[in-house]
Amino acid sequence: MSIAEFNNYKNASDNSDLKHIPGSYGRPFIGHYFDMVNDLYGTIDRQYCRYGPVSKLSVAYLKGVLLVGPDIYGEVYLDKNKNFSAEMGYSRTLGRFYKGALLLRDHNEHRLQRRIMQSAFKTEAMRGYFSTMGPMIQDAVESWDGRKDLLFFPAIKRTLLDVAARIFVGLDKNDERANNLNRAFLDIATGLMGFVAKEIPGTKYARGKKAQRYLQDFFGSLIEERRYGDGIDTFSYFTREKTENGGYFSDDDIIAHMSFLLFAAHDTTTSALSHLMLHLGENPEWQQRLRDEAMSIDKDFLDYDDLDKMPYTDAAIKETLRLHPSAMVAQRRTIRDCELGGHFIPANTILFLVPQYNHRMAEYWDNPHSFEPDRWLDPRNEHKRHPFNFVGFGGGAHKCIGMHFALMQSKTFVHQFLPRYKFTLTADSGKRLQTVPLPKPADDLPIKLKRIR
Ligand code: HEM
Repeated sequence: MSIAEFNNYKNASDNSDLKHIPGSYGRPFIGHYFDMVNDLYGTIDRQYCRYGPVSKLSVAYLKGVLLVGPDIYGEVYLDKNKNFSAEMGYSRTLGRFYKGALLLRDHNEHRLQRRIMQSAFKTEAMRGYFSTMGPMIQDAVESWDGRKDLLFFPAIKRTLLDVAARIFVGLDKNDERANNLNRAFLDIATGLMGFVAKEIPGTKYARGKKAQRYLQDFFGSLIEERRYGDGIDTFSYFTREKTENGGYFSDDDIIAHMSFLLFAAHDTTTSALSHLMLHLGENPEWQQRLRDEAMSIDKDFLDYDDLDKMPYTDAAIKETLRLHPSAMVAQRRTIRDCELGGHFIPANTILFLVPQYNHRMAEYWDNPHSFEPDRWLDPRNEHKRHPFNFVGFGGGAHKCIGMHFALMQSKTFVHQFLPRYKFTLTADSGKRLQTVPLPKPADDLPIKLKRIR
């Protein structure tokens, strides 16, 4: 497809004329939105059991097709015939605030833009991030000592935010600009929840737009300084990276990539660690197993080369993401007529992918609803039953670029936290889980700490 044809495609509106697809669009205006918010798994399960792997779904103003099953997910993620657009899939959700970000680019343009992340995620840069991360997480975990009832979610969110401000943006944790950035992301997250996409003063959308402009000004004003400085933060790497033609990426590109990177990195890992703690609280034997593993690496801070020495922790994090993927719904839009799961799907149709449902299909996972990290280890190796039965980090060209970073950060947290404290859940901790705007325990996960070292 030529660039002109693709631009025409972008102007076409979504197709919702799907009479031949089984199912319905649910309730007027809201569709399946509240069913999904209240019980995501149950809603998808009802659809799948009644209509099969391809059915109609409406998430508020977005109407399209729900897809289920690793075979179809493989087809969409690998996208061998360039049938699917992430940009147009997300254009009326994430695209309202993160236009130009990596996930909002397709095919060749996406490949060229992904270059900007090259140096920032190479082993050498990762080693540098690592040496910053360990002491910062240690300080935070130490500061929790003596807190009788700790609300884990806000505590870890604050910690990861400070780490992100330093590693990704090069800001000190006491720098007021780090708080402003946090506020901007909160406002954009709220803006993403708004149904009305018009900048009417006082609306969630208007607040989100104001925050988006703040990010543009903030990053835009620092590009030159970072490009010619000696910073080893991700932002500095981005400003110095060159395109295929040998020039720098444009300021707009750098701003779009930085804004999205912070969004993609932060809440996802916060969500993952909060659910990990919930499961370790419910399964004290796994808590102890991870503690023993962390203590066996007998040093103050992990090195990059220690990451492979934590197989139980690795398995527990992946198991957490299997049960509670941080990105609950992925979206694409068909570029041309195609076929999925034996159904004809017309051009411009929105596709919804719900990783959590795949992750709990009994065909691919034993006891699919229970927390059993050893399913990731020998001899069970259940993740090898299908190349796409686990898609917690996505797959294909858009697969998460921060996967290793997220695992590294999570292991660093476990290595600092578990040897210092035993913890228990309070009677009601984590009984109710929320899915939007971010999957997390609805009560912020109160825990009780007991110092052991
Ligand atoms: C537990 C933590 C994380 C999870 C579960 C996660 C999950 C995901 C998923 C599912 C996607 C693909 C979305 C799609 O295909 O529609 C994705 C993409 C992405 N993630 Fe992550 N992520 C995590 C952490 C991070 C971190 C730490 C960073 C950055 C340091 C990051 C940066 C990105 C970027 C830039 C993309 C877009 C990649 C592209 O379009 O080429 N993520 N992530």
